[in-house]
Amino acid sequence: MEVIRKIKVMQEKAEDLRRRKKKIGFVPTMGYLHEGHLKIIREAKKISDVVVVSIFVNPTQFAKGEDYESYPRDEKRDLEILRKERVNFVFMPDVREMYSEDFKTFVEVSGLQDKLCGEFRPGHFKGVATVVTKLFNIVKPHVAFFGLKDYQQYVILNKMVKDLNFDIKIKPVETVRDKDGVALSSRNSYLSEEERKIAGAIPKSLLLAKDLILQGEEDAEKIKNIAKEFLISHNINNIDYFEIADPDTLEPKRKCDSRNCLIAVAVRIGKARLIDNIVIKNGKIYNLPKIDGRAEKEKEKEKKKEKEKEKEKEKGKEVN
Ligand code: PAF
Repeated sequence: MEVIRKIKVMQEKAEDLRRRKKKIGFVPTMGYLHEGHLKIIREAKKISDVVVVSIFVNPTQFAKGEDYESYPRDEKRDLEILRKERVNFVFMPDVREMYSEDFKTFVEVSGLQDKLCGEFRPGHFKGVATVVTKLFNIVKPHVAFFGLKDYQQYVILNKMVKDLNFDIKIKPVETVRDKDGVALSSRNSYLSEEERKIAGAIPKSLLLAKDLILQGEEDAEKIKNIAKEFLISHNINNIDYFEIADPDTLEPKRKCDSRNCLIAVAVRIGKARLIDNIVIKNGKIYNLPKIDGRAEKEKEKEKKKEKEKEKEKEKGKEVN
């Protein structure tokens, strides 16, 4: 595995690989790698001759007051992991080389960038589109791989590649989850043990909405309210959004379509802002949380408790 830190060196290496007809698969990351990244890398290895992973915590995609400074970083651990995965090249540029003092050029995917997370993280997707454009020009990949946990990012980058005629294929990779269904994220490291337990309600809220939609409920407002109440009843009070939207345009839906919809959520728990989603496209479901037996049992227990509570309430009514 070769670690490259200079832009010019990476460009020359990419040129050389292309000359030798090697198919370059690219996995851009911000480091602090977890199983979610590894799944993406393994997918990349399946269809590429050479895999390049970039590690770069991109300052332009963090809004003012966000966690750029405190974003978890562990270069040594990341490199060990990548070496074990037999990645060919790791590109780790210096922030001052990526963004010179007189940096002036940005890429925007208007409309899509302002929806969902864009409303709560101004400038975030402009920073993502810009850095990915730069990375594409440096790594010169044939195929680039992105996790579907960041579904909006995936949609935006697909549109960018199409609109700007990048000769690069974008491949989505499904979300990897913990046993309780919580999507893996570098930001999960911000959570205390108690907060991590609370986060278990996020995938459950998505499943609740998905079940209602598949059972034929069409009223998006009603479903969103039920899901938000569920989150609140599980101590998640800081909800940026729970949205049901078109999976291509990201436009919120009033009437759910059980064959085509994005169910997306963003919440804040302690210091962490966590996002997750389920996508239904042409009747196929992506990112479906699978919750293990233990969590299923907990779910049953919860149901029982809720039923008992209701019974108690009814009894109270009878007495009154
Ligand atoms: O998804 C991420 O980790 C980042 O947004 C990306 C694509 C590496 C750009 O900084």
